[in-house]
Amino acid sequence: MKLINIIIFLFIPIYLFSQNTNWKSYSGDKRIEQKVDSVLSLMTLKEKIGQMSQFSANWSVTGPVMPDDFLPYLKEGLVGSVFNAVTVSGIKKFQKTAVEETRLGIPILFGYDVIHGYKTIFPIPLGEACSWDLNLMKQTARIAAEEASADGLSWTFAPMVDIARDPRWGRVMEGSGEDPFLGSEIAKARVEGFQGGKDWNSLKNINTILSCVKHFAAYGAAESGRDYNVAELSENTMRNIYFPPYKAAIDAGAATLMAAFNEVNGVPSTANHWLLTHILRQEWDFKGFIVTDYTGINELVAHGVAKDDKQAAMLALKAGVDMDMTGATYIKYLETLSKENKISEEQINMAVRRILEMKFLLGLFDNPYKYLNENRSKKTIQKPEFLETARKAVSRSLVLLKNNNRLLPIDKNSYTKVALLGPMMNDSVNLNGEWQGRGNRNESISIYKGLKEVYKNSKVSFNYSKGCEVNSFTSKSINEAVELAKKSDILLVAVGENFNWSGEAACRTNIKLPKAQQELLKELKKTGKPIAILILSGRPLDISWETENVDAILQVWFPGSMGGYGVADVISGKYNPAGKLVMSFPRNIGQIPVYYNQKSTGRPVDLKNPNIDYKSSYLDSPITPLFPFGYGLSYTTFSIENLRLNTHVLSSDSKIIATADVVNTGKREGEIIVQMYCRDLVGSVTRPVKELKGFKKIQLKPNEKKQVKFVITPEMLSFYGINNKKIIESGEYKLWISQSSVDETNTSVFSYEE
Ligand code: NOJ
Repeated sequence: MKLINIIIFLFIPIYLFSQNTNWKSYSGDKRIEQKVDSVLSLMTLKEKIGQMSQFSANWSVTGPVMPDDFLPYLKEGLVGSVFNAVTVSGIKKFQKTAVEETRLGIPILFGYDVIHGYKTIFPIPLGEACSWDLNLMKQTARIAAEEASADGLSWTFAPMVDIARDPRWGRVMEGSGEDPFLGSEIAKARVEGFQGGKDWNSLKNINTILSCVKHFAAYGAAESGRDYNVAELSENTMRNIYFPPYKAAIDAGAATLMAAFNEVNGVPSTANHWLLTHILRQEWDFKGFIVTDYTGINELVAHGVAKDDKQAAMLALKAGVDMDMTGATYIKYLETLSKENKISEEQINMAVRRILEMKFLLGLFDNPYKYLNENRSKKTIQKPEFLETARKAVSRSLVLLKNNNRLLPIDKNSYTKVALLGPMMNDSVNLNGEWQGRGNRNESISIYKGLKEVYKNSKVSFNYSKGCEVNSFTSKSINEAVELAKKSDILLVAVGENFNWSGEAACRTNIKLPKAQQELLKELKKTGKPIAILILSGRPLDISWETENVDAILQVWFPGSMGGYGVADVISGKYNPAGKLVMSFPRNIGQIPVYYNQKSTGRPVDLKNPNIDYKSSYLDSPITPLFPFGYGLSYTTFSIENLRLNTHVLSSDSKIIATADVVNTGKREGEIIVQMYCRDLVGSVTRPVKELKGFKKIQLKPNEKKQVKFVITPEMLSFYGINNKKIIESGEYKLWISQSSVDETNTSVFSYEE
């Protein structure tokens, strides 16, 4: 038995070994702290630095392998974590070497990008966020963790919680959109889903993995929507808009955090002491560990703040980075830097403690093979109930943007001839979107297949013609589609972007549908037949032309493994869509960024009278988005009425209850996401014209009326003021309970008096 195991097994009292100074552990558990320090006391400086190093595996025919240049590190016990090693048998090889063939036998953490599912792929995060269904999002993250852990993984690089206001930026697909409040709620749900709850004790379960909140900070504020680009924004905007979801994830127990690639106000995040130590550790009390985004340390050279990798490693460590992902700068330079007294060994100890603690909490020291069971893997992956949840997640994430003359749903009992058209209709490859984990692009259920299945034995008949490719067409292909259209009653056209047009490093300056698809739609329009389009995309597109020219629009996003079934559930009316946008759709690219929680300016446009000169407006476009945040239709209609407050005065130790009646005024049962917004009418700094402060998803039968209640507390009115300190200001506030961010039918006013 190795000394390390004897120590852990016998749990030798730590004062024999303790080096601990002022470490605040994640768990706060003294026994764990002592175990960590016991192990630390046995380690050489080199072994410590090894723990701070993550290397990426390559994939060979036999499974994952360590690249030749990193193999010696593995054999010497100098690898803290491996990235991209997958499958139980593949991971087992690495773990065995680490545990059985190295001096101390410290187990390895295996990380992977499990973003919206591992094998069962759920809708892309931006799409799923449109469900506003926190339980559902927690459940899909839970399932992703079940599958990933059953396949040997212990750590996911998710959730991404970057607020995004620019749809040119391809990574909007991976986040939760533009709103800090909703983004924070979703961040919490996903962290709790991956980690199995808020309590660190759940990490020792076999089906939980560490989450990694990313990318800190303001990665989504990349100038001009170009990935990795500079973020230049005030500390105030950072604190009020960009920071809340990271903070919420940390408060929910996120075990790790990833530093962003980008610079913020002149300092790359990877070398940003203010972000990684001052804000994260000192203000927010984050006690997990910080990993770089990939070669973020090496990139400090290209950023121009380090002259070489060695200096970059020093800057990163000093800023607060605990683990170097794949860049090999720590393993190559920290030892020398320490000998040169440029960094302190205590800083290294601190990072190693944080990493070792996670290994203890996961139970890897007790059983390094806990996740490595082929049988469990086979039984867990793509269980029928996981696929069922995926199907449900699809239907909940769709957003009905337009539905003239109630074109949708298409009644199963009507003799309707439906033309199934468009490049996305009979396609599986695109459905999973980017970051599909270990999903299989050819296995996802196409919309065509889903419709055929759901409408089996119905009176509706389908015929199919592709019409064009995503990005090319021939007159023959379009003519065939037009001929079919002429013989049909309804045209269902699935259009969109290729999956790899969004995601990392996939930004676009033109966010319209490709020419080929525009051409197809223009020709179909000439037939005079009613057209419903289904849009598959990883971002809000500029669909101004389509909105004017087609009858119905269903925003599908990239729906994942069960895409076709979930879409068919909505087209058929089996599920009445309730999704609401989490990111505004611009009318044109020139409006970007366009978002609902904007500032008033000194010359706000009166939307009822927008054409007055010298207002904050455009000569050639309205200022409003095409479809705003919080917007989405249903097959039924709702009204919200009779907003009432139990009191109009709030004080520091009281609360207000706002109540409204929600009525289903249509003919179908349906769900509605009721939203509450507030506006701070006069502030010591300018305040957004509206801020989401609460939401509730409720279900109503036709004519049914339900009361919704929202509680307003002083804390909900807090914000970061002129000195970037959190404050609550006395004064008047306006409140809305509404169906979208632009619905102003129910408003009231209250005041806060300290
Ligand atoms: C770069 C991406 O920005 C990050 O989100 C991801 O987790 C890492 N690469 C690892 O794939």
